[in-house]
Amino acid sequence: MAFTPTPRQLTVIKSIAFVLALLPFFALAYLVAADRLVEPLQYITRNTGSWTLYFLCITLAVTPLRRISSWNWLLKLRRMMGLYAFFYALLHFTTFLWFDHFFDVQEMLKDVAKRPFITVGFTAFVLLVPLAVTSTNAMVRRLGGKRWQALHKLVYVIAPLGILHFWWMRAGKHDFNKPILFGLIVLALLGIRVWWARSKAAASPAVAAPRR
Ligand code: HEM
Repeated sequence: MAFTPTPRQLTVIKSIAFVLALLPFFALAYLVAADRLVEPLQYITRNTGSWTLYFLCITLAVTPLRRISSWNWLLKLRRMMGLYAFFYALLHFTTFLWFDHFFDVQEMLKDVAKRPFITVGFTAFVLLVPLAVTSTNAMVRRLGGKRWQALHKLVYVIAPLGILHFWWMRAGKHDFNKPILFGLIVLALLGIRVWWARSKAAASPAVAAPRR
């Protein structure tokens, strides 16, 4: 079913998406302010980590959904979803830096190096930074479309790193249900891209080999 919102409708859709994506943050802020958390540090770290992963998955889902539904306007929500992934990752990282290490960056880096699951999460976060920094229209123009697109393919590395980080963390508890579920979601979202790329390559006419 083709649906193309008018510019006004698109603004409404974007505003609703913006507010909805902020709800987990406000819910968390409320729980903290009302002193409703038994183990605040653990809860905040896990909650913000989970939302980072959800928004990474939502961002990766935009292109497949657009292609399947032909709702091209969905692309207009992708940047916002990606920035929300970064926003929750920043909260997740800040919680760790603040409550676990009281902003002692050296101590934090030692911990990052010592615990492999944190090394992986930290790598994913560091890779997210250039994507967030280059998300503006001005940066797209500055880098040029091709280079910008190549850089933003980093998300195909970041999402699996996020899964590995989650998996490793839960491995200590022998609790793999959620990491398996999200691992399969990310696999499907990346797998469909590989499948499309292969179908496209197979459909395009082969370049004739030069005659000797
Ligand atoms: C893209 C980046 C990242 C993603 C997607 C991510 C995701 C997650 C997820 C899903 C969890 C578990 C939530 C749960 O149990 O329900 C988690 C936990 C955690 N992450 Fe991350 N994370 C990322 C980056 C980082 C970074 C940069 C650090 C610190 C340097 C970090 C440190 C932790 C810690 C300490 C825990 C909780 C461990 C515990 O409660 O036992 N993560 N993360």
